[in-house]
Amino acid sequence: MPDREHLPSSLGNRLSLKGRVILVTGGGRGIGMALTKTCLDAGATVLITDVLPEPDPMLLQWKRTAPEKLLYFRCDLTKKTEVENTFGKILEKVHQIHGIVTAAGICVDKPFLDHTWEDVQKLQADTGTFFAVQHAVKNMKQHGIQGTVLMICSQSWQHVCPGHQLTAYAGSKGFVFSLARSLAHELASDGIRVNTISPGYIATDMNLSIAANRPELLKVFHEAPPLGRVGTPEDLQMASLYLLSDASAYVTGQDIAVDGGMQVSSGNYKL
Ligand SMILES: NC(=O)c1ccc[n+]([C@@H]2O[C@H](COP(=O)([O-])OP(=O)(O)OC[C@H]3O[C@@H](n4cnc5c(N)ncnc54)[C@H](O)[C@@H]3O)[C@@H](O)[C@H]2O)c1
Repeated sequence: MPDREHLPSSLGNRLSLKGRVILVTGGGRGIGMALTKTCLDAGATVLITDVLPEPDPMLLQWKRTAPEKLLYFRCDLTKKTEVENTFGKILEKVHQIHGIVTAAGICVDKPFLDHTWEDVQKLQADTGTFFAVQHAVKNMKQHGIQGTVLMICSQSWQHVCPGHQLTAYAGSKGFVFSLARSLAHELASDGIRVNTISPGYIATDMNLSIAANRPELLKVFHEAPPLGRVGTPEDLQMASLYLLSDASAYVTGQDIAVDGGMQVSSGNYKL
């Protein structure tokens, strides 16, 4: 049993990210941006990599308030050279990385037979996820940092999402899910923890742009989750803070579904 001296002093301290540097891929908008805010609020310095030439204006506002705490690097994670160059620039600015959140991704919603080679290739932002995590973990190991890796997966790794047609996307998230489990085991002896969050339907540009062409999907987003509403990026904030901070010091290789209960009920909803 740990003696009382070794028990962390307060809940606040255990959830603090003060003094830590967290990299967020896809932090320019949507879920990644909400998780960026969480890290900033918890005291971390945040480095964002995103393909957007200009991130969400709200993010630029946060940056103006604390420019040294929030750095933005434009990078297409599907391009090997860009990823390598960006990590070169990142490591010129900060020497140590304590955590990485991988939120970059796209969604391709169409029947299996209509998928093109390019569609499936584009989904390989998840390959970029693999190598972004590789760069971050390399730095953690070099500095003996017991860091955290948090990958944003999806409910689709596990079950069909009613209304959507996501064969290739779901496959790419199955890759993320399995990658995280293997990596959690491999890095456990270094004290580096690896976990995933699987969101359900979250109201972001990704989903809303699909629904712009198929408005009937909006009904699914709102009605299919047993909790009776579509999720928001903010719904993911506390689960991510838990997994990024010392609050989850004894947790690795796990997935938290933030999905309004979809995991226990999916597949029954008909349009
Ligand atoms: N919105 C949902 O319902 C939902 C559900 C489950 C999982 N997810 C996952 O959550 C993550 C975030 O999605 P979101 O809903 O916030 O979507 P979003 O489109 O709002 O944000 C995704 C971000 O990733 C960036 N990005 C895309 N491709 C990139 C690339 N090649 N290189 C660098 N950046 C790239 C985009 O520019 C964007 O800023 C994704 O991995 C997505 O698959 C979303």
